[in-house]
Amino acid sequence: MKVKKAVIPAAGLGTRMLPETKTLPKEMLPIVDKPAIQYVVEEAVNSGIEEILILTNRSKTVMDDYFDYHPELEAKLRAAGREDDANMIRKVADMAHFTFIRQKETLGLGHAVLCAKRFVGNEPFAVLLGDDIMKSDPPVTRQLIDAAEKYNCSAMGGRHVPLKEIGKYCTTRYESIPGEEKIFHLLEAIEKPRPEQVITDFAILGRYVFTPEIFEVLEHQTTGFNGEIQLTDAIDGLAKRSKVVAVDFEGRRFDTGSMTGYLETVLEYALESEKTGAWLKEYILKKAEEWK
Ligand code: G1P
Repeated sequence: MKVKKAVIPAAGLGTRMLPETKTLPKEMLPIVDKPAIQYVVEEAVNSGIEEILILTNRSKTVMDDYFDYHPELEAKLRAAGREDDANMIRKVADMAHFTFIRQKETLGLGHAVLCAKRFVGNEPFAVLLGDDIMKSDPPVTRQLIDAAEKYNCSAMGGRHVPLKEIGKYCTTRYESIPGEEKIFHLLEAIEKPRPEQVITDFAILGRYVFTPEIFEVLEHQTTGFNGEIQLTDAIDGLAKRSKVVAVDFEGRRFDTGSMTGYLETVLEYALESEKTGAWLKEYILKKAEEWK
């Protein structure tokens, strides 16, 4: 199995980040000097993905522009002797082969993935949620591709989360695979479980590798939580008819789609950045002195 295509659903309305996300897609919010979605694209590319479909909606055209050339700006930068900057902004558009499709109605994550059927064709593909940034080496998507290739089936990325938070994600039932510590056989998944529905603390979190069989399930998927077509419900259906594995991935997850998650991401990346790290550390220390 070779996974060369990825789908990044980025068509949500961003209702946790208003008013900012009224017109600016949450995926375009800056994490230091790059928009959040660029980190997600870089993870896909660093995992061996060559073709990327970004699912947008009618108010998110700024994303297509970002992954395009900008000849006028490049010319200005080159004329000013800023070759490195000109090359840097060109490289963004050359990282992969990009395709953009609009999800015409916001009917849920499962519906968004179904919109990718024509792009995907009869190949396995990765799905990376546009507002989840994963910091890891090897990239989380690579870890999933390796597991999908090893077991020749779909692979879901997840982590154990505090039980009091599981209702924000999904809960799963799984059984161990002899000789594996981090890869399980996935048996069941429930989206946004109510307390009485919680099975385990292992949640699927924003990264997936699917065989095209997922489309057969999605095409018949009825609405679930919040009246939406949920990807998790389709994963549950898939797990009940075929082999599916879950990978307890290595790495840190940042949820840029919530206010505090976004700020945490910015601070972590700013502290690590050569451009801002030293300054921010000094600023935080100064503030901490003031609060004493
Ligand atoms: C989505 C998925 C959910 C997953 C979560 C975090 O939920 O539906 O299963 O656990 O992302 O990756 P959302 O954050 O869109 O409510």
